[in-house]
Amino acid sequence: MTGFYRQGPALVCDGVALDRIAAAEGTPLYVYSAATIAGRYRAIDEAFAGYPHAIHYALKANSTLALTRLLRGLGSGADANSGGEIDVALRAGFIPPQIVFTGVGKTLADLGQAIDLGIRTINVESAGEIARVDALSRERQTRTKIAIRINPDVDAKTHPHISTGLKTNKFGVPIGDVPALCAHARALAGVEIVGLHAHIGSQITDLDPLTRAARALVALARELAGAGTRIEHLDLGGGLGVSYDGSRVPTAREYADAVLPIVRESGLAIVLEPGRQIVAPAGALLTRVVDVKEAGGRLARRSLGEGGGEDVGGERLFVVMDAGMTELIRPMLYNAFHRIEPVVLTEAPPTSCDVVGPLCESSDTLGKDRTLPRPQAGELYAILDTGAYGSVMASNYNRRLLPAEVMVEDGKARVIRRRQTIDELLSLEL
Ligand code: LLP
Repeated sequence: MTGFYRQGPALVCDGVALDRIAAAEGTPLYVYSAATIAGRYRAIDEAFAGYPHAIHYALKANSTLALTRLLRGLGSGADANSGGEIDVALRAGFIPPQIVFTGVGKTLADLGQAIDLGIRTINVESAGEIARVDALSRERQTRTKIAIRINPDVDAKTHPHISTGLKTNKFGVPIGDVPALCAHARALAGVEIVGLHAHIGSQITDLDPLTRAARALVALARELAGAGTRIEHLDLGGGLGVSYDGSRVPTAREYADAVLPIVRESGLAIVLEPGRQIVAPAGALLTRVVDVKEAGGRLARRSLGEGGGEDVGGERLFVVMDAGMTELIRPMLYNAFHRIEPVVLTEAPPTSCDVVGPLCESSDTLGKDRTLPRPQAGELYAILDTGAYGSVMASNYNRRLLPAEVMVEDGKARVIRRRQTIDELLSLEL
């Protein structure tokens, strides 16, 4: 068994007790299972085995160096979304041909860096970006490989904040404009079109939009080939969702079985950019209960030992954690659900409560209307499936310090990022 599971009452990560890790490293703390990351990476790789494919792990999901190195060791490439992520990829040991560079709004400096390095492809987002890549490449007397990110106008049926494939979204070149754009770009000395790219959104749990995007790419590649532009690969992006609540979601194999028959006839190699699929279930955020507040009248009076009191309604039990929107913003930003569980199960009676963070706003709610064994101050909790878009989206709001991160590998827990200190935070200030 790998990942997070119970041994008796205790939640463990790959067999190592989480309460021991938290006692040693403090909270809030991210803990990752190396075995889960490896298993999930391999599941995708095996699902596409037998067809030319390359997995470029989407660094944006989690790019802590140790985790990035682990994926490189498994044979992954990298999908970078900023100059910073390209730097991280290089420091994690990737070589430029293993890196693709995606993202809306790449600056001239970002593009120049990618061109100088000679990365695998720049996934370009617009006619303007093609012109900039062309100009920068000609200045350097080089030719840069590009893939055109298309906007297929497909509804990914996911949260609107993470939906990217509709024509009303800022991403990609409208699919109808691509043939003319290619005809124009083929004449440019500084760019070589080697691929088509689509990424229609994230946390997609319905295969239909993903297959529609794949079909659109294949049809477009055929049309372009007919007009003389022969490409080498189709980049299907990332986006395959995971189950946060135990409901059934498509597996990597089901995804492969859905898209491979579509792509096979083209003969084009596949590039994949999975992020969440690999790392989300591999991480948990450990947090301690700071306070248990009985708000709203009767409950509050009872906790002061004033007995009975009439039911005034609107009562809530707030479980205040030492982690909040600064460590995990997904519940606040996307209304995302994450399981919240006591690290050591207790016999306390099941109690309905709101699990909240310590920050100065009411949006700082990690879980609403949860039923937990009545929590006590000091108890340790785990917020599960937070390996993707957890730590990377952390902030210093309220001058809170970035949490530490631990990786469990081969039965040992080691700190892969230590907790930020106030001196480090203030060291940027003059
Ligand atoms: N490729 C591109 C071009 C992307 O923009 C993304 C994610 C991925 C790949 C990886 O997608 P994944 O396989 O992880 O779904 N912060 C949000 C998710 C934002 C995703 C942004 N793009 C969240 O916490 O749900």
